[in-house]
Amino acid sequence: MADLSIVFAGIKAPNPFWLASAPPTDKAYNVVRAFEAGWGGVVWKTLGEDPAAVNVSSRYSAHYGNNREVLGINNIELITDRSLEINLREITQVKKDWPDRALIVSLMVPCVEESWKHILPLVEATGADGIELNFGCPHGMPERGMGAAVGQVPEYVEQVTRWCKTYCSLPVIVKLTPNITDIRVAARAAHRGGADAVSLINTINSITSVDLEHMVALPTVGSKSTHGGYCGSAVKPIALNMVAEIARDPETQGLPICGIGGIGSWRDAAEFMALGSGAVQVCTAAMLHGFRIVEEMKDGLSRWMDSQGYANIAEFSGRAVGNTTDWKYLDINYQVIAKIDQEACIGCGRCHIACEDTSHQAIGSLKQADGTHKYEVIDEECVGCNLCQITCPVADCIEMVPMETGKPFLDWNHDPRNPYHVAV
Ligand SMILES: Cc1cc2nc3c(=O)[nH]c(=O)nc-3n(C[C@H](O)[C@H](O)[C@H](O)COP(=O)(O)O)c2cc1C
Repeated sequence: MADLSIVFAGIKAPNPFWLASAPPTDKAYNVVRAFEAGWGGVVWKTLGEDPAAVNVSSRYSAHYGNNREVLGINNIELITDRSLEINLREITQVKKDWPDRALIVSLMVPCVEESWKHILPLVEATGADGIELNFGCPHGMPERGMGAAVGQVPEYVEQVTRWCKTYCSLPVIVKLTPNITDIRVAARAAHRGGADAVSLINTINSITSVDLEHMVALPTVGSKSTHGGYCGSAVKPIALNMVAEIARDPETQGLPICGIGGIGSWRDAAEFMALGSGAVQVCTAAMLHGFRIVEEMKDGLSRWMDSQGYANIAEFSGRAVGNTTDWKYLDINYQVIAKIDQEACIGCGRCHIACEDTSHQAIGSLKQADGTHKYEVIDEECVGCNLCQITCPVADCIEMVPMETGKPFLDWNHDPRNPYHVAV
């Protein structure tokens, strides 16, 4: 059986599935139940200075798919609303009782050296394995000069990270905000400040929907609302890209990455790992389905690793990074063409409509004697965009088949049609 244990930024855990700093990790009761369910680690819900934050009601809203499937959640919660003393006491006890699990403490205090100098020894005294700096909270805290207000200014990220490395001997993970133009800038700043790792993403600024009767966005607090932070499966593509951006940035080479954002299955986790993550964190999926989802995650990941011959996570972590490149390095001469499996086709015509109305008019519709339609690809018109395959409701009915063009590899950098091309 594959070995799921990891050492991430010097922190040991029996498996790479950690719960992200959020309600699931807000108190000992939750964390103990999560450990009992099998989670390899937790990042304790962000601690701050006393007096503790005060939350509003209501707090969450959702973006739904057609069948009421929750695609993403938006929240306007702040950091912990429990006192520092209670949190520290519970952390100390939980770490003592669960020595083999990773227990990381998320922190957010004002961007003032004295504040960090004060809280860091208190956290270190709990026996926790590491700290995570919450530079990402997009609502409430930035208005007080914390959270995303720090994460969006590289100089602050670097400075606070350096204070943490100065006043604390624990590994420092810097949690990045996605509410920024270029995620690499923040990661580089964390690296310069001495971060042992980065984790990403925190939530994305969002408004999920508007109550049109009362003319107020959701979630509502009385008759008003505010933007919140978006998370859940809908943010996975954004998070994956940001992880890849950092993983392939020469300036942050070797900086461990903890992937977060929309992870709900072993496959999601494996994808984050393939793009450079050494561990992953989960929040929304656990909030929607409970702690036991970790069983499927551990089981699925280890089965897949066995099937691929990977003995441990380090053997495949980062394997897809080298194949993720800039557009200009892609092969312009590579060509795929759609092929419809007529046996599997249910004749719904979605591929035809999509291609006919919005793409390349490359799928013909032939009326049959019995009144049904048969759909066929016109090879010469097909550019291989994948749209028909994406719209097709039948898995594996449309295959994108590579063509033998006889043309050599050619990227845009070397293409004579590019006015700035590099002569070969
Ligand atoms: C209700 C809620 C509260 C959260 N509170 C915090 C927090 O206190 N500190 C923090 O760093 N991230 C917080 N997050 C962000 C999560 O840790 C995580 O980065 C984000 O939800 C993306 O992961 P996911 O898609 O698996 O949910 C919170 C998320 C939610 C939904």
